[in-house]
Amino acid sequence: MKVLGHRGAAGSAPENTQISFAKGLEYGVDGFEFDVQLSRDGEVVVCHDERIDRTSNGMGWIKDLTLQELKHLDFGSWFTKLPVCQEIPTLRELLEVFASLNLELNVEIKSGLIQYPGIGEKVVNLLGEFDQLDNSIISSFDHQLLLNLKQHYPRLKTGILYDSAPIKPWLYAKFLKAQYLHPAWYFVTPELVKSSAVLGIEINTWTVNSSFAAAKVKTARVSRIITDYPQCFQKGAAGEAIWLER
Ligand code: G3P
Ligand code: MG
Repeated sequence: MKVLGHRGAAGSAPENTQISFAKGLEYGVDGFEFDVQLSRDGEVVVCHDERIDRTSNGMGWIKDLTLQELKHLDFGSWFTKLPVCQEIPTLRELLEVFASLNLELNVEIKSGLIQYPGIGEKVVNLLGEFDQLDNSIISSFDHQLLLNLKQHYPRLKTGILYDSAPIKPWLYAKFLKAQYLHPAWYFVTPELVKSSAVLGIEINTWTVNSSFAAAKVKTARVSRIITDYPQCFQKGAAGEAIWLER
């Protein structure tokens, strides 16, 4: 069972910024989940929301701002636990740091509220340039985007994000040629893990931030836990992730 830091280590540092990823590394994560969007000039930037209002000192849509305009803003000081000035990272900048660290990368492509033309191809090309395709999972709530990408890049590993309780989602994952299902933790059951495994599909779940959630997904034997608090997990003798209280 692997532990991936959610948006870096979003419980301890301003999400999706360099300091958040540095904290995650300090906590010994196996890898990271982070979200990507496209700036007005087509740069892949790391940010959860389509707008910058919540996590920066600016306002507006990422799609309307150039990278240079975004880089002038502070994406760190809003976070009261660790207010520190932070630039928005580009995917390229993160990969420059991650490429030599042997991490698992879960790149969540944001597509829905805003449909960014060519975002999937840009992400795949960057991961390829840094030789990170084999250790990366591309996930999205936009399943059509994942299927299209998989058809163009059969080697890609994709994860189907969902926050609901579909019937036999492993059949759906197979139909989409995905390797992973990424359910919200409360929809994880032992049956989901077992039935998916029969088809070679693994379960990676989010956002596991409490002892209750951790116990549920550990019992079901998921493959990966995505958490805001990677420091709260310790590896057990059998490789399971054990939650230590915050
Ligand atoms: O990828 C897991 C999780 O991050 C999905 O939801 O809204 O936190 O990006 P969200
Ligand atoms: Mg995400």
